[in-house]
Amino acid sequence: MCGIVGYVGEKPALDVVLEGLRRLEYRGYDSAGVAVLADGKLATEKRAGKITNLEKTLTEHPLPSGMVGMGHTRWATHGAPNDRNAHPHLDNDGQVAVVHNGIIENFARLRADLEKRGHEMRSDTDTEVVAHLLAEEFEGSLAEAMRRVCRKLDGAFTLVAIHAGDPDVVVAARRNSPLVVGRGAGENFLASDVAAFISHTRNAMEIADGQVVELRRDSITVTDFDGNPVTPKEYYVDWDASAAEKGGYDYFMLKEIAEQPRAVADTLLGRIDANGRLTLDEIRLSDDELREIDKIIIVACGTAYHAGLVAKYAIEHWTRIPCEVELASEFRYRDPILDRDTLVIAISQSGETMDTLMAVRHAREQRSRVLAICNVNGSTIPRESDAVLYTHAGPEVGVAATKTFLTQLVACYLVGLYLAQVRGTMFGDEIRAIIAQLADMPDKVEKVLDTIEPVRELARSLADAKAVLFLGRHVGYPVALEGALKLKELAYMHAEAFAAGELKHGPIALIEQDLPVVVVVPPRRGRSVLHDKILSNIQEIRARGAKTIVITEEGDETVAPYADTLIYVPAAPTLLQPLVATVPLQVFACELALARGHDVDRPRNLAKSVTVE
Ligand code: F6R
Repeated sequence: MCGIVGYVGEKPALDVVLEGLRRLEYRGYDSAGVAVLADGKLATEKRAGKITNLEKTLTEHPLPSGMVGMGHTRWATHGAPNDRNAHPHLDNDGQVAVVHNGIIENFARLRADLEKRGHEMRSDTDTEVVAHLLAEEFEGSLAEAMRRVCRKLDGAFTLVAIHAGDPDVVVAARRNSPLVVGRGAGENFLASDVAAFISHTRNAMEIADGQVVELRRDSITVTDFDGNPVTPKEYYVDWDASAAEKGGYDYFMLKEIAEQPRAVADTLLGRIDANGRLTLDEIRLSDDELREIDKIIIVACGTAYHAGLVAKYAIEHWTRIPCEVELASEFRYRDPILDRDTLVIAISQSGETMDTLMAVRHAREQRSRVLAICNVNGSTIPRESDAVLYTHAGPEVGVAATKTFLTQLVACYLVGLYLAQVRGTMFGDEIRAIIAQLADMPDKVEKVLDTIEPVRELARSLADAKAVLFLGRHVGYPVALEGALKLKELAYMHAEAFAAGELKHGPIALIEQDLPVVVVVPPRRGRSVLHDKILSNIQEIRARGAKTIVITEEGDETVAPYADTLIYVPAAPTLLQPLVATVPLQVFACELALARGHDVDRPRNLAKSVTVE
């Protein structure tokens, strides 16, 4: 949700900033803008739409070259996504430029006060007030002006600013929105995400809430908003630039779908010892603490919430601990019952989702223990949690979550099995058997991908469909929800998922001639009652004219008579089936969206990291 980049060093800042913005475009693509300081003068350019629009303008009207610069790619909150509201925003004298990610909640009052003092606003954004306030507070040090301004602001923000009167620095401030620093040799970087500078340095620094960074070519100074020095935590990024590139694929999403076998394998790596036991040292809660837990609440949004729904089935079955799953955006507002013995599991790919972060804070205020499942090292949610289990999906650039969903499932399975191991709710042999089955899943996911072409053809044939329904039971239900979400967000079409048993309670009225309905069939072994029941559900909808697209395990011939299209996936135990059953749905949504002419990496109105509530 908005990407920001800052640079000071030896290279032309504009090149570095534009490269960083391209890598951050997944965070928003309503507009893009840059500012550089060249010969003590500020120069800016900004354009509505994707970065290519900005680049075209810069080719026609180049900016002077300077070694200090910053840039922004916008996901609009206040003000329409047009040139006028694009960042950077300037003060009236054109001395200071600001870019911002977040929402300044008291901007209306600040704006009115500024206008009374003679400032003229040129945009509808909340951000612009910061440029004017910085101009008022500036007495030679931009960092000092930024600290003073931050103390006046309410809300969430990452701000980056440059000032013609302090021409060798880029200054940034953070409260509740992401900000990382990259430390180079003779050059330093600021960004919302390490992806922006990963091709220049893998040495990164976490900037915490309430801190201001002053970046110079040879120094990085961090203080709190009162000016007290702080020492940020440094870390090394364990992936390189190639991981954040398309690698020959037309879209990041296609690459990320293809990376799933590796992502699943990497998330298991190092977590199973030679005896087939789990070693999750990262969980950092003692065995006694884990034994004290009497309730688990999973909080998450969107795709991560669907991972949580699958986790509930697995965790309750393996551990017998009651487990609820909550939309993070609803959680704190309903006054949930929490105490020290509640384990809250926050699932978030980005680690920055504001709804989930607020749920984490609420849980910790109530003294609950919080375990984060997260893909981005050093992001806010893990830093504010008691413990974190990282998924090792690598960077996910496509806005729609794919490989990170599968790795979230793996992480949830690991947590469930680990709790069962510590609490003794399953025999060691049972746990080892499931772990061995988990270890087979990368190959099975690979097999799904190897045989995916018919799914693509099917998707293309349905490009003109008005709607698609998805049905599932047990863990197949969250898989169906995920399939519907992918189709909505990528193909912009009506897609809805139901627990198949609910069909007869209302939704069956939606079934009409030729309506495509995707059904996820549970394995025959294990939950065979459900298998038979879903066969009845398929017959009910087929009798009413639906075009049935049935996902079932290899070797299950019983569904063939009721399926217009059959999609086989490798056999897997019921609880692990989502790892294979989701993949055809991702490909289906992606291909259908492409057939309708959409950009699957950057679906309209969306951003990858949703840092506002
Ligand atoms: C859908 C999607 C979103 C995210 C949701 C939570 O494809 O990506 O629904 O899952 O915004 O994001 P994280 O996991 O970063 O908290």
